[in-house]
Amino acid sequence: MEKVVLAYSGGLDTSVAIKWLMQKYSLSVITLTVDIGQGINLNEVKKKAEDLGVEKAYVLDLKDEFVKNYVIPAIKANAMYERVYPLATALSRPLIAKYLAKIAKENGAKYVAHGCTGKGNDQVRIDLGVKAIAPDLEIIAPVREWNFSREEEMEYAVENDIPIPVSKKNPFSIDENLWGKSIEGGILEDPWQEPPEEIFEVTKLRKEEPSYIELSFEEGVPVALNGIKKSPVEIIEELNSTVGAYGIGRIDHIENRLVGIKSREIYEAPAAVLIIKAHEAIESLVFPRELLHFKRTLEDKYVELVYYGLWFDPLREAIQAFMDKTQERVTGKVRIKLQPWNFSIVGRESPYSLYDHGLATYDKGSTFSTESAIGFIQLFGLPNYLYAKKGPKS
Ligand code: ARG
Repeated sequence: MEKVVLAYSGGLDTSVAIKWLMQKYSLSVITLTVDIGQGINLNEVKKKAEDLGVEKAYVLDLKDEFVKNYVIPAIKANAMYERVYPLATALSRPLIAKYLAKIAKENGAKYVAHGCTGKGNDQVRIDLGVKAIAPDLEIIAPVREWNFSREEEMEYAVENDIPIPVSKKNPFSIDENLWGKSIEGGILEDPWQEPPEEIFEVTKLRKEEPSYIELSFEEGVPVALNGIKKSPVEIIEELNSTVGAYGIGRIDHIENRLVGIKSREIYEAPAAVLIIKAHEAIESLVFPRELLHFKRTLEDKYVELVYYGLWFDPLREAIQAFMDKTQERVTGKVRIKLQPWNFSIVGRESPYSLYDHGLATYDKGSTFSTESAIGFIQLFGLPNYLYAKKGPKS
C-alpha cells in the first residue's frame, strides 16, 4: 500500500482527513505533529491519531529549531508583513514542509498531505516548501479537494467515529505558535466590527501598573532579559506572558493575501512586536545612515518572499546572507517601558554606538565643525546651483 505523511494538528479537519485519505485514496497514513509552542499536548494528539488507525504517529518538539532557523533570521530582517504582521504562521510553514519531506523520505512515502484550504496563503507555503526540498513528492490537500459543507464534514466525522471537539461552537480559525497567534473568521469577517474581547487570550489585560524591562541583543539575537541570560525560546515565552499581560501586541489588519483576497486578520504577538521594535532601536544606534536606509528597503522584499511562501528561494537566502552580515554590531541593550495597551523604547546603549554626544549637542562643548558645514553645503548643492543658474524656477 502506498503511504502518505499528513501534517496533523489534532483538530477536526485533519482528523477527518486521516479517514478520507484512507478511504478515497486507499493510502496508509502516517501523521506528523510538531510542537512549535501552540500549547498542545503531544501525547494526546499521538493517541488520537493512533485511535484513528494511522500506521505511525510522529510527534516532534521543534520549538528550538523553529526559533533558531526561522524566527531569528526573521528578527534580523525586522520582518513585518505590510509593516504590522510578524509572520508567525508564515514562518512555521517551511519548517512543517521540511519535516513532511523528511519523514516521507524516511518512510518511502510517495505522498504528503496537509489540511490547508484553497483560499489561503498556507497551501502555497506548504506546497512550495515541499516541492523545494523534494520535487518528486506528490501533494494531497484533502480540505482543498473535498466539497464538504460544515454539516457534511460533521456527518462524515460521526459516521467514522472521529471525535468532535466539544468547543466546536468557536467560530474562529486559529493558528498559533511561539511567535504569535492568528485569528480569523466569524464576526471578524466584518471589517467594521470591533473584535470581541473574548477572542484575546495572550493579550488579555491582566496588569496595569507600569514597569520597565531591559532586553539585550548579541549580533542581532535576543540573549538576556533584565540582565539574566536566557535562550531565545525562553525570552520569547517570557515576553509573551509579561508583555501580553499589558494587552500589548494586538494587531487588527486588513491584509493582502497572495491569492488576491483581502482578509481581516487579528494577531496576538506581544513578544514579536516588542523584540522587533527593540532590535530596530539597536540598529538605529549602530548602523551608519546608508546601511540603515538600504536595509529597510531590502527588508520589504524579504518580508514579501517569506509571506509568499518562497522561504527556500535562492533570493530569500541571498537576502538573508546580507541581513546576517549586517548584524555583526547589533549588540546592546534596550530599555522598554510597559503600560496598558502600549510600550515605548525609553533607552538604548551599545558598545558599537555611533551616537556622539559632542557632535550632537546644542549645549556648550560641541565638537562639530559648523565652518565645515558651509563648504559642505556648497559642494552638496553644486549640481542644483548649476541647474538654477540656467534659469530660475518660476
Ligand atoms: N493571514 C496569516 C498568514 O497568511 C495567518 C494565516 C492563519 N492560518 C490559519 N490556518 N488559520 O500568514
